[in-house]
Formats: sequence, structure tokens, C-alpha cells
Amino acid sequence: MKETVYFTASEHVAVLAGPDDFDGWRTQARQVLMARVHPSEVIWRVPGGEGDLFASSEPSPPPIAVPDARQPIVSRAFLDLAAKAACHRDRGRFDFLYRLLWRLQRNARLLEDKADGDVRRLDELARTVRRDIHKMRAFVRFRSVAQPDGTERYVAWFEPEHHILRANAAFFVNRFAGMHWSILTPIGALHWDGASLQEGPPATRGDAPDGDPIEDLWSSYYASIFNPARLKIDAMLKEMPRKYWKNMPETALVPALIAGAQAREAVMVEAGRDLFEDDSPPTSLEEIAGAIRSCRRCAIGCNGTDAVGSEGSSGASLMIVGEQPGDVEEREGRPFVGPAGQLLMRHLEEAGLNRSRAYVTNAVKHFKFLPRGKRRMHQTPTAREIDTCRWWLDGERSIVKPRLVLVLGASAARGLLGKTISVQKERGAPIDLPDGSELWVTTHPSYLLRLPEENRPAEEKRFQDDLRAIAERLAALESAAG
Ligand code: URA
Repeated sequence: MKETVYFTASEHVAVLAGPDDFDGWRTQARQVLMARVHPSEVIWRVPGGEGDLFASSEPSPPPIAVPDARQPIVSRAFLDLAAKAACHRDRGRFDFLYRLLWRLQRNARLLEDKADGDVRRLDELARTVRRDIHKMRAFVRFRSVAQPDGTERYVAWFEPEHHILRANAAFFVNRFAGMHWSILTPIGALHWDGASLQEGPPATRGDAPDGDPIEDLWSSYYASIFNPARLKIDAMLKEMPRKYWKNMPETALVPALIAGAQAREAVMVEAGRDLFEDDSPPTSLEEIAGAIRSCRRCAIGCNGTDAVGSEGSSGASLMIVGEQPGDVEEREGRPFVGPAGQLLMRHLEEAGLNRSRAYVTNAVKHFKFLPRGKRRMHQTPTAREIDTCRWWLDGERSIVKPRLVLVLGASAARGLLGKTISVQKERGAPIDLPDGSELWVTTHPSYLLRLPEENRPAEEKRFQDDLRAIAERLAALESAAG
């Protein structure tokens, strides 16, 4: 294609609003492109000194599009990569992006040429920025600061490598929508008050508070998820470079955790085999209730929460098994007393099942959670954690000897069966257990609570139908046994 390039008499100075002003770059790139201003003639300037020091800092007036100017060709793929690359600290990034845009007008498939130096550089800039964005999401740690009006603000210090603060703002607003928080960095600050986001000037480390009780929560959480069997120090340092450690309370634990890793790994490997093969099974429910308090056989048992035992007596013909205690259960020390427990209770009553005559327990005895501000967000236990806890559940079953075991949800089913089953496929019919009792599975009440309002009535009806079938079957088993 033959075309005329209009070189301007002097260079065109394009001034951006900030170091991450991709929208400003886009608008002005379109203007200079349509005026066919060659990349070598455009100087991109960013307030704060980025760009050619010898160029005028006065922005040039918008150039006039050439008479036959076509709309620029820009693919979504280019825009996505360019938006990331624009956040890189590289001082020449905006010149580079314009040069690439210019080349794309002549070769629309340029991005497919992975051997091209510019294409490789674009990928690399975008990849580096993505990584920095991810690091900020993973490594920001809030400290709580009491405010003069009695409320609390959560404040974090973070040092990004690139201009990613604004690019990450929506993530933190969504993630911590209900909290009042500030993220302070050397390139600016974000302040969220639960309704609106404000930007602030650059801060220093000294502007951010040091530790507070949230650190304890994070530290115990981190200790609980630190899996010594997966310890690969090089990989860990790559993922979590030392420069971030000083802002992350849990990393104070790392040296000790590494030092203790081999010992813990030995315990966990044991747990994976048959940790309990030398232990004699518990002989009473009281013994189990006492022993689970000091159980440290999996990571959840080490997270510093109190184990929650069961309710009910040996000889109960119905055993109800949930997944694990929740936040309310852990605080009250009783199973199924929080929101899911209340919903369960209502449905049990409606189906004619009496909780007080049942034995109520959980597949996992400790509460697994992720701290979020001051809240503890439920985390599903892993298959391995459920399997490790089966020792207690088997012990309970051998003592209670229920005729019918009702398991709520997939984790509870795994706790009983040692394998993962589909709740939707298996509900509504019994599974025979080797001891002659029957297992019935239905959904977990928390699942019902999480459903969108419009889907709940239908699912609650299915839940109720399952419980009615179970009530009928239980009555039949009890009368057969006399
Ligand atoms: N969910 C469970 O599975 N068990 C409880 O005890 C509470 C909520």
C-alpha cells in the first residue's frame, strides 16, 4: 500500500494525565495516527518527568486528520495487551505502543508473529504487569486502625513495581466492599468508605500502621494452610519474593515452619496412609469429645480454633452428618446452631424428624476458614482433610450404631464413604453400608442459603421431599427392629 506520511515541522508532544493513562494514550494515538504523524515524530510525556527531557512540555494542539484518513485498525487482543503494558514502569512504553499501533495498520496480523521483536516485547510488558497485579492482590495485608468516631478502618501498605494501583482498585472494592479501607503505596493511595473510592497522594511506609490482632488471625490461618509436604523453597520465594515479607505477618512464621516442616510432613504422610493404625479405636463418645479437642492430625486441627463435638446419645437410630462447624458453631461449641442449622431444623420438623432424638455431628471437627477483615469465611475442607477426620466419624458410628445415616452434602458423604459421590445422582435412595445401616444423602442446607432467591423454593421442596422419604424409611427401620 502506498501512502503519504505527513512529517510535522517539529515533533508532536502528546501529554498524558498520569503514568497509567491508557485512555489518554488511546485518544491521542488515534489522533496522531489519523494525521499520519510518524512514531518518530511523537513525544509522549507523563507528568512527573517521564518522556524526552529536551522536548517541550507544552502539549501540541490536536493534529488535523489527513483528508483520506481511515479509522485505525485495533483488535481487542492488542487493546488488552496494550492496556496492561501501559502500566509498566518502562519509560518508553507509550512510544513503543504507538510504534506498534502504527505497524499494525500496515500488517493487521502482526500480533500472530511471535518471532517479531515488538510483539515479544508487548507480551513481556503485559505479562510482567499482570504478575504485579496478581502479587498486589495476594500480598496486601490490612491492619485495623480505630477511628476517632469509634469505627474501624483497615489500612495496608504495599509497594507495587509498576503503575498498577488503579488497575487493581475494582478488585479491592469488590473483595472488601463492606469494609472501610485504605491502601497506601509510594505511587498513590486508594481510600474506600463502603460507598465511594477516593485517590490520595503517594505515601511512605511510616504512614501505615504496624501489626494489630488481624495479624494473629492471618498467622494462624497461614500456619494452617502451610503444607509442609508441598514445601519447595525456591518456588515459594519466586511466588512470594522476600521484599513482600515485611508487610505480611504470616511470613514471620516461615522460618519456623520450614524448620518444622520435616516433622510435620512425617505426621501428614502418616495421616495419608493410616495414621491411626496403631491407635485403638475410641470406646465412648466422651472419649471422642475430649480427644478431638487436641487433634492436630490435619492442618485444620492446627488453625487455633476449638473443635466442635457432636450432640445426641449412643443408640440414636438417626445420625445426621454435616460438613464442618461454621463460625457460629465454633463460637458456641455446638453443631448446626448457625443459619444453616436453623434452616435444617425447620425442615426436619416439617418432615416429622426430631433433632433431639438424632445424633448430630460433622465430617470434620474443626472450622476451616479464610480471614476477611474481622470475618471468617468458610472454606471447604479438602478430600484429604475429610479422610483424616474419618477416624472420629467411624468411631462415633461404631458407638452410636445408627440405623440410618443422613449425610448433608458432598463433603459429609465423603466423610462416610471415603469417596466422592454426586449428591444430585444419589439423593432419594439408600446406599447400603457394610454394617447393615443405610446412608441417605441430600444437599447441605448452606447450599440452599446460597441459592438465588428465585431458585430457593424449588430446591427447598426437593430437600423437604428427601427428608420426608428419610423420615418414612426411618420409621420403617425402627418398627422392623421392634
Ligand atoms: N454446617 C455444617 O455442616 N455443620 C455445622 O455444624 C454447621 C454448619
